[in-house]
Amino acid sequence: MNNTDIIIASEKQIILTNCMPPPSSNEAVADIIKGITATPRYIPSRFFYDGAGSDLFEKITGLPEYYPTRTEKEILKENAATIAGDLEDTDIVELGSGDCSKISVLFDAIPPDRRNGICYVPVDVSRSAILDSAETLSQNYPEISIHGMLADFLKHLNNVPGKNRRLICFFGSTIGNLDPVQTGHFLSNLGSLMRKGDQFLLGLDMVKDIMVMENAYNDSRGVTAAFNRNIIRVISNLISADLDPEHFEHFAFYNTRESRIEMHLRAVREVRIESPFLSSKVLVRRGETIHTENSYKFSQSRISELAGHAGLSIERIFTDNNRWFSLVSFLK
Ligand code: SAH
Ligand code: AVI
Repeated sequence: MNNTDIIIASEKQIILTNCMPPPSSNEAVADIIKGITATPRYIPSRFFYDGAGSDLFEKITGLPEYYPTRTEKEILKENAATIAGDLEDTDIVELGSGDCSKISVLFDAIPPDRRNGICYVPVDVSRSAILDSAETLSQNYPEISIHGMLADFLKHLNNVPGKNRRLICFFGSTIGNLDPVQTGHFLSNLGSLMRKGDQFLLGLDMVKDIMVMENAYNDSRGVTAAFNRNIIRVISNLISADLDPEHFEHFAFYNTRESRIEMHLRAVREVRIESPFLSSKVLVRRGETIHTENSYKFSQSRISELAGHAGLSIERIFTDNNRWFSLVSFLK
């Protein structure tokens, strides 16, 4: 059952719709238990993003090795006027909105006197991400109304408001964190929700030199390692266990056959997992790994496949000089 609150950010009323079950619901616990008892073990990557995880991800986006964020922002800046050309009376929906810095690039390209008819709909599983961006955006763009959605874009797309024309943005190559089956279902669901005139803007990290990709997930300051280990703290709280993130080390590499970066956590000693939600304790042997994230990288032919899954046509592909990142505009 959804509930809708009105919150105040910078003296402005913001609608916040909550589609999520409580964080410690049976669903979250069941997903964690299923993953840590599976062979090979895994943890669903949506558990990265509690408040601390969202802050760590924001730090990652500023790292010299993590090229995707700055490259996508450059592409957006360069093409914002073209993209924002006819955005009057539009609902701008951003999936996995995070810190709202990318959507700000687009808003900057809309003259203030044309921002009135725009409603911004950030959709994210992180409450702090939505509330912080609502605060920043209502200060910087008071003309734009905001309707935040605390929601899972894999489950709650149908709840996204849809009276007006929509521009749906999915930046950051976050779609690359889904597996190909999830990607197919997500896109066919999204495509069937879109109406004629709606637009889908999708950020995709492209396949490139392996060292460049691997360095982006093995930064010299250890921020990605801290982001990866933080998931242990998150799940430990949710299943009432007593796990120590320091008992795991970060491990990331490019899997060429699957075109993806894989992130894992390797136990540096034997780890005993005891939880009221487990019928017997789980033993993770020293050296054993838990798979925490895939980050698929894309090619031109894969972009055509994505359009096929969604039943959408490719209007235009914006890219950077190195062709490291693509921002693809799809139309219904
Ligand atoms: N779009 C931003 C943030 C990317 S980080 C950028 O490009 O920099 C990924 C974001 O997606 C996080 O804010 C995380 O909380 C959110 N997220 C991850 N899985 C999600 C899901 N299943 N549903 C909704 N949001 C999700
Ligand atoms: C959010 N997502 C697209 C990031 C990525 O690159 O796959 C998450 C991340 N994981 C490690 N670094 C960044």
